[in-house]
Amino acid sequence: MECRAGRGAESAGHGRQAGRVGSAVMRALVAMGAATAHHVRALEAYSTPLHGSAVHFALVERPDTAFDEAGPAHAGDVLVRVHAFSCNYREKGRLLQAARRAEGGYLVLGSEFAGTVLKVGSAVEDLRPGDRVFGDGAVDATLAHPGLSTQRASQELQVLPRAKLMRFPAEMSFAQAAAFGVGAQTAYSMVRRLRPARGAHIAVTAATSNTSLFVIGALVARGHTVHALTTSAAAVPQLRALGVRDCCVLTRSEAADPLLQAYLAAQGIEKFDAVVDPFMDIYLRKLVRHLRRDGSYITCGVYQQFSEEAPDGFIDQGLPLAEVFSLIVRKNISLIGNNLGTTGDLAEALADHCAGRLPIPLDTVTGPDGLADFVQRTWLASGRHGKVVFEYGPGGPANMGSEQ
Ligand SMILES: NC(=O)c1ccc[n+]([C@@H]2O[C@H](COP(=O)([O-])OP(=O)(O)OC[C@H]3O[C@@H](n4cnc5c(N)ncnc54)[C@H](OP(=O)(O)O)[C@@H]3O)[C@@H](O)[C@H]2O)c1
Repeated sequence: MECRAGRGAESAGHGRQAGRVGSAVMRALVAMGAATAHHVRALEAYSTPLHGSAVHFALVERPDTAFDEAGPAHAGDVLVRVHAFSCNYREKGRLLQAARRAEGGYLVLGSEFAGTVLKVGSAVEDLRPGDRVFGDGAVDATLAHPGLSTQRASQELQVLPRAKLMRFPAEMSFAQAAAFGVGAQTAYSMVRRLRPARGAHIAVTAATSNTSLFVIGALVARGHTVHALTTSAAAVPQLRALGVRDCCVLTRSEAADPLLQAYLAAQGIEKFDAVVDPFMDIYLRKLVRHLRRDGSYITCGVYQQFSEEAPDGFIDQGLPLAEVFSLIVRKNISLIGNNLGTTGDLAEALADHCAGRLPIPLDTVTGPDGLADFVQRTWLASGRHGKVVFEYGPGGPANMGSEQ
C-alpha cells in the first residue's frame, strides 16, 4: 500500500463557535462495579465476570468538551473527534480496580484512537480541521506530556496537546489507525534498541500477543530471522504466514524446557542470540539459559497485572530467580526494559506500513450494538489474532452537530 498525505479526507467544524462543541453530550465506554452500574443510564450495556469480579461495561453519554480555539489555555491544543478506539492489556488491571472499588465510580476506557481534527489552538500551525490523526505515545522525557496521548480514548471528543498527535494517511482506515499506535511504536522501539546483528536468531515470546505481532512484523520487515514462541498451536499457520523462520509451540500444562531444547535442536542452533518478550514474569526464567553469552533480552511488560482466580502453573516454570540473576551476570546478558517509543519509531512504523512492509494485526472491528463482542474479543476470547477496535461509525451522535 502506498500512502499519501493524510489531510482533508473529511472537512470538519465549519461554523463552530468557541466553547462547547455540540449541544450536550458525547459517548464514551466505561467500566464499573455493580453498585455504580445500578445508577448509570447506558446506551448499551454488557456485564461479565472477569478474573473473579463482576464487571459492568456501558456505553454512556457524558457532557461534551469545552475548547476555546482563540484562548491562551488551548493555544497548543487540538480538539479531535474520535471515530474508532481500542483498549490495551494494561487496562484490564485498571478496570478491575475500578470495578472492585468499594466506594464505586467508573473508569473511562481506551488507550488508542483514530479521529479527525475539529479545531486547533492558535499556536498550532501544522494541523487543520479534517486532518486524520492518531495518538503519538512518545515517552521523550523532554516532552511536557510523555507517554500515552490519553487513557480515555473512547471519549468521542478529546482535547490533546499537538505533540501527542500524528497524522495518518487516507489509505488507512480509522479502524486500522486505532489498532496501530501503541503496538507499532513499542515494537519499533524494541527493535531499534535491540540492534540485532544480521543473521541473528531472535526469539519473540507470546507471539500472538498484539505487541509481538507488531514485533514480528518489524523484524521480518528488516530481514531478521524470527522464532515465534507461542502457547497457541492453532495460530502457527498465521504466524508462519507473517514470515517467521518457525514456531516453538509451548503448552501451558507441560514443562517448557524440553520443548525449547527440542526446538533449538531441530533448528540446528545452540542458543538464541536475542529475545523480545512482552511478559517478562512468564518468559525470563524460561529463556535465560537458552540465550547465548553476550545475548540481549528486551521486554516491555509483565503478565501479572491483575489477580488471577487460579494461579497459572506455566508462569512459575523455569529457573529460580536467584539463578536467573546469576546467569544474566555470568553470561554478560544485556537486559533492557522498554516503555513505548519515540515519535521517530512511530513514524518509521507508519512508513513501513505505507510501503507494504508492516501488516496491521486487526482481529475484529465492532461498533454500537457490538459492545459484548468488543469486550469478549478484547479481554476474554482465546484465539484472538490482533487488536479489537470499536468504531463509532460515520455521522456520530446527532447532538454533536454536522461535521461531515
Ligand atoms: N511498556 C509498553 O510500552 C507496552 C506497550 C504495549 C504493551 N505492553 C505490555 O506488553 C504485554 C502484552 O500486551 P498485549 O496487548 O500485546 O497483550 P495481549 O495481546 O493481550 O496478549 C495476549 C497473549 O498473551 C499470551 N498469553 C495469555 N495468557 C497466557 C498465559 N496464561 N500463559 C502464557 N501466555 C499467555 C498469549 O500468547 P500466545 O498464545 O502466543 O502464547 C496471548 O495471545 C503487556 O504486559 C503490556 O502491558 C507494554
